[in-house]
Amino acid sequence: MAVLPIRKYGDEVLRLPAKPVDEIDASLLKLIGDMVDTMYAAPGVGLAANQVGVSKRLMLIDLSVGKRPQELHVFVNPVIVESEGEITEEEGCLSIPDFVEIVTRPERVKVRYLDRNGSERTMGGEGLMARAMCHEIDHLNGTLFVDHLRGLKKDRILKKISKLVKTGMW
Ligand code: NI
Repeated sequence: MAVLPIRKYGDEVLRLPAKPVDEIDASLLKLIGDMVDTMYAAPGVGLAANQVGVSKRLMLIDLSVGKRPQELHVFVNPVIVESEGEITEEEGCLSIPDFVEIVTRPERVKVRYLDRNGSERTMGGEGLMARAMCHEIDHLNGTLFVDHLRGLKKDRILKKISKLVKTGMW
């Protein structure tokens, strides 16, 4: 297993809609292992495959960041099938380090996906879990949390980020 470099805002792979996984083979399982190591090393509560440069519909969430093994969830080809309520909280992203902003997300979602054994599952998430699910699925669609911001707040954060990208400080 290995810790992979995390792609940052400005990297094209983060903007491409990721392709569905068609086979859960040895190379995908190795990628999952590397992504787990990468997420824990960061540390973060979620990671999408395109954040390590692989444009596939695969993502991880572990709200315990490795403290409780049963809290690691691997989602292959995840789809939101139900969504309700609204909750507004701070949110950040490993691909946009050191920036947090307030983003409104659904309070509860239900996600259908394949687990790492290829079994179809449905999982409900509330609060932080729902937020993480939406955030990571956004990644798979080429969307970043700053895309949800509006007006001056958005202008300000994008200006700061593009300055960092230009100066190679990222
Ligand atoms: Ni993110």
